[in-house]
Amino acid sequence: MTVSPASTPTPPATYLERRAWLEEYFDRTAADAWAALTSDAEVSGVRARVRAGRERMRATLADWLPTDLAGARVLDAGCGPGQLTTDLAARGATVVAVDLSRTLVELARERLPVALRPQVTFVAGDMLSAALGDFDYVVAMDSLIHYRLAETVVALGRLAPRTRTAMLVTRIPRTPVLGTLLGVGRLFPRRDRSPSVEPVRPAAWNAAVARALPFWQVNREHRISAGFYTSEAVELLRCDA
Ligand SMILES: C[S@@+](CC[C@H](N)C(=O)[O-])C[C@H]1O[C@@H](n2cnc3c(N)ncnc32)[C@H](O)[C@@H]1O
Repeated sequence: MTVSPASTPTPPATYLERRAWLEEYFDRTAADAWAALTSDAEVSGVRARVRAGRERMRATLADWLPTDLAGARVLDAGCGPGQLTTDLAARGATVVAVDLSRTLVELARERLPVALRPQVTFVAGDMLSAALGDFDYVVAMDSLIHYRLAETVVALGRLAPRTRTAMLVTRIPRTPVLGTLLGVGRLFPRRDRSPSVEPVRPAAWNAAVARALPFWQVNREHRISAGFYTSEAVELLRCDA
């Protein structure tokens, strides 16, 4: 495996500050909300639309992976309550499910069907930890959306040398409409506000990633817009194999 010197940068201080804030947020403030959002529980209209959009996103990411994942090692980077973890394991993958929030990792562990337990290792910690090992695929659904572009690029640079085939990630596109929605975010009921996300211009994201990861290419992009949930799936393929 080729590892370029630029591919193992140290996360900037802002990444560490953001990570600490996210750990607190997802472990305490929002753990119950995320448990509800990712279950069949009745939720508000705003959250129901977000839930529907996220289901489409999860299906898109799953579609971009081989149907049969037997023998593949997959990192669910920022697994949250573990919906994708279960999907991946059900398709035969050996999964490392990592999240900053111990509470959500425990929830994901409880929700995983017993028959799939031997295939999944749960870790409370940072997705960038080298101790997690190497992977065929890394999937980061709605986890890197909370970091600035520079931090996301560093994160991908840390994951890339440990990923053999593809990294599937999501990003929030900065569009005029979304800018308006974010601007009026204060109009949402407090209970429906999400933690701050970092919208990005897709072209800027692609250019920054191309500069930082010369052995990777953006292969597919797909936008999902569902009410207040607007997100893009991006497939990054390793191209030095
Ligand atoms: C919006 S939730 C999405 C959870 C899950 N991927 C899903 O789509 O249901 C984002 C998750 O990413 C996790 N996260 C953010 N930064 C992380 C990091 N550096 N390492 C591990 N987990 C992280 C958060 O703790 C949170 O649970």
